[in-house]
Amino acid sequence: MIKIAPSILSANFSCLGEEIKRVAEAGADLIHIDVMDGTFVPNITIGSPVVKCIRNCTNLDFDVHLMVEHPETHVDAFAEAGADSITFHAEVARHSHRILQQIKAHGIKAGIAVNPGTSLAMIEELLPDLDMVLVMTVNPGYGGQHFIESQLEKIHMLYHTIEDMGFDCDIEVDGGINEETSKLVIEAGANILVAGSYIYGAESAEQAVASLRG
Ligand code: DX5
Ligand code: ZN
Repeated sequence: MIKIAPSILSANFSCLGEEIKRVAEAGADLIHIDVMDGTFVPNITIGSPVVKCIRNCTNLDFDVHLMVEHPETHVDAFAEAGADSITFHAEVARHSHRILQQIKAHGIKAGIAVNPGTSLAMIEELLPDLDMVLVMTVNPGYGGQHFIESQLEKIHMLYHTIEDMGFDCDIEVDGGINEETSKLVIEAGANILVAGSYIYGAESAEQAVASLRG
C-alpha cells in the first residue's frame, strides 16, 4: 500500500493548524515535518514546541524528518512532543545504531535518511533495526527542487535487499515528488511518498494526493 505524506514545509505557516487539517481531509496518510537546524542545512524551520502545538490538529501520524547535526540531542524532545516516527541523517550520525535504539525506546518508529550522494553501504548494517529508510531524491534543505533521477537505481537496489533479506522496512522518498515522478519511485519500490510543493501548491489537495498513489 502506498502512503502519502504531505510536507508542511510548503504550508502557509501563518495558519499551520488549518493547513494540516486541509491535507488530512484531502486523504493524506501521514504528516511529514521537516526539522532544519541552520547547520546541516541552511534553513531553520520547526522545533519541538511547534510540534507539540500542532499535535492536536489531526489524528494522523507525525513523521518527523530531522535535518540536524547531533540528532541524539533532539530525539527525546520530538518524541515527547508527539512524533510517531523520527528519521535522522546517516551523514551526521556517529552512533547511528544507538540513536535508533534511543528513538525506539519511546515506542515509535525509527528511520534513517540518505542524501543523494550517500551510498546505501552506509546503512546496510542497520537494516534489521530500521522501520524505514528515507531516500532523499533532492539535496535536503528546500522545497520545490527538481527530482534527481539517479536515485531511482538506489531505491530499486534497496527494495531488493529488503525483499531478499525479509526485513520489515518501509522505503520513503522525499523531494521533487509530483504526478510523474511518483510513478517512477513506486515502480522502483518506494511505498511512502513525501510531497510538499506539489500538494500545497495544487488547486485541489485532494486531487493531488490521489494522483500520487500511482
Ligand atoms: C527537503 C525536505 C522535503 C521537502 C520536499 O529538504 O526534506 O520534505 O519539503 O519538498 P518538495 O516536495 O517540494 O520537493
Ligand atoms: Zn523531508
